[in-house]
Amino acid sequence: MSFSSRTSWPRQRNRLAKLLEERQRQGKPIFDLTISNPTECSLAYPQKEILSALSDPAVLRYSPDPRGLLSAREAVVKYYQTKNVELDSSNIFLTASTSEAYSYIFKLLCNSGEHVLVPRPSYPLFEYLAQINDVALQHYRLSYDHGWHIDKNSIREGITESTRAIMLIHPHNPTGMFLKKSEYAEAKAIARDHNLALIVDEVFSEYGFSEDAGRIVTTAASPDVLTFTLSGISKMAGLPQMKLGWMIVSGEQRLLREANERLDILCDTFLSVNTPVQFALPKFLRTGKGISENILARIRKNWRVLQLAVRNVPSCSLLDCEGGWYGIVRLPRVNTDEEWALQFLEEAGVYVYPGYFFDLEEGMLVVSLLVEEEIFRRGVSRLVEHVSRVL
Ligand SMILES: Cc1ncc(COP(=O)(O)O)c(C=O)c1O
Repeated sequence: MSFSSRTSWPRQRNRLAKLLEERQRQGKPIFDLTISNPTECSLAYPQKEILSALSDPAVLRYSPDPRGLLSAREAVVKYYQTKNVELDSSNIFLTASTSEAYSYIFKLLCNSGEHVLVPRPSYPLFEYLAQINDVALQHYRLSYDHGWHIDKNSIREGITESTRAIMLIHPHNPTGMFLKKSEYAEAKAIARDHNLALIVDEVFSEYGFSEDAGRIVTTAASPDVLTFTLSGISKMAGLPQMKLGWMIVSGEQRLLREANERLDILCDTFLSVNTPVQFALPKFLRTGKGISENILARIRKNWRVLQLAVRNVPSCSLLDCEGGWYGIVRLPRVNTDEEWALQFLEEAGVYVYPGYFFDLEEGMLVVSLLVEEEIFRRGVSRLVEHVSRVL
């Protein structure tokens, strides 16, 4: 008996996971600054509206469509109209999550071993998604210099004969960097020069700390380069348990038609989005607005708490952040980021992500800004007290 090499991931727990488990077993207090599941952060959800949205008698009928129910896709069209973007519902495909949408797109664009160019640092999801689909990743750099920027040269340098797509994340996780108009124009020009598609992940697009006219709104209506724009209600409406995302295909007509026809067959093979959530989507998008406003208020407040706490510790600083659900703290490199994270947990009971988890350079720690406010405040103050004590 043998298993596929595709799934031969290292499965042993790292030191931090072991220490966390040990503390949990011993019943010691833990200020968990990694929680980013919005349903576990004491946010107020409109329970009645959410539950009643799922009880439409229409859900008793099954009428599958590979792109998803028209009523749900029209709700997505309406959502983009609030951003002054006009879409055709026939270019929208509903999926059970953004992760599933990535899987379909990788299958659509790449033969085994071909490449997708993704940003580094990044959320670790993409390595797994690529591997599961027999796709290899190449990386371009996001560099930090008074804010995060796409290193455009590294996009050009990263492209090879086997590159099929460039991935952009708007705003990026965990850096909170939004895609600027000039960066998007450059990425499109590169994609055009090399006959590549763009995959644009906009799951965190509702979470900017402030407005900025230099940012793009969305890539969903891009008329030229073949573009797959991904989003869904897991982040935008704080409803990850409902499992509903979408991909919007746009670009030059001939490619758009062919991509849609091929995706029809891919999606028809699985028909993975359940009917109740599709009927509920118009309501979820309406109630989701209030939920995302609550989340935005939470992350803004926690960001401010973090800024104030770090300001008093000369050896600590925060990386600039335009939004998203995470904050990045820079610490002196007297320890590796894993050693810092172990120390915080062992000596202060504070659990944070070491930066290597996101492929950040050494000396970075990542905290979730979604954490319940009192836990966040106490966790952050213990964290900075620990740094002041040991340095
Ligand atoms: C940038 C980014 N895209 C997509 C996802 C996954 O979203 P979904 O829950 O829709 O699969 C995540 C998960 O945190 C993410 O960070």
